[in-house]
Amino acid sequence: MNQPRCWAAIPAAGIGRRMRAGRPKQYLELGGRRVIDHTLARFVGHPAIHRVVVALHPEDPYWPDCAHAGHARVHTVAGGAERADSVLRLLDWLLQQEAADDWVLVHDAARPCLPRADLERLLARAGAHPVGGLLAAPVADTMKRDDAHGAVRETVPREGLWHALTPQMFRVGMLHRALGDALARGHLVTDDAGAMELAGHHPLLVEGSRANLKITRPEDLPLAAFLLEEEKD
Ligand code: CTP
Ligand code: MG
Repeated sequence: MNQPRCWAAIPAAGIGRRMRAGRPKQYLELGGRRVIDHTLARFVGHPAIHRVVVALHPEDPYWPDCAHAGHARVHTVAGGAERADSVLRLLDWLLQQEAADDWVLVHDAARPCLPRADLERLLARAGAHPVGGLLAAPVADTMKRDDAHGAVRETVPREGLWHALTPQMFRVGMLHRALGDALARGHLVTDDAGAMELAGHHPLLVEGSRANLKITRPEDLPLAAFLLEEEKD
């Protein structure tokens, strides 16, 4: 059989409600280029990545102005109502490319600071695992559960708890089946590994840096700018 290829699938169809900016956060300016161009540059031209496919909002007016729009190795599809719907559309497209046995790295457009070393570690470790895996960072803070009235109900031991990051790396066909089933059964799936878990799989946790932050709230943008500046040194 041929060597499996490795694709990057980038959900970028969100509107960035929590960011409260004038436009979706993936199109905000960050160190002289768009957030999404930083993100795509991590995959486009990477020797292990065959092609990149991006899910866009159906009424997105911003994409055509991005540096990667029209790039020969970057394809686009229309996204859906939730992140999981957008990922499913990306996987539908990949199946049309006869990529069922290939690997896919699903990575949020809003994570422009993915360290190169973390990407390499994920490719090596998840790529050698029967199911695949995800970048994740051990929880550092003490965790509290609230009582639904703004006070603490309990402290949750942080031992063994991880923040799920992206990329998350799975076989296209397996992830498509898992995510499709999870959505059909009405599950709320906030990451790709979650769908695999519902299908009974145990994805590998690959430790990654907290520098791989997801731009979510206004204070995250200057933090991302700082991290990208640091990376240059
Ligand atoms: N995303 C997507 N399709 C959606 C919703 C989200 O492709 N229907 C993408 C976002 O563009 C982002 C990633 O999924 O790159 C992670 O989602 P999130 O951080 O929640 O982004 P938004 O949904 O845009 O932000 P918010 O939840 O604050 O509205
Ligand atoms: Mg969202």
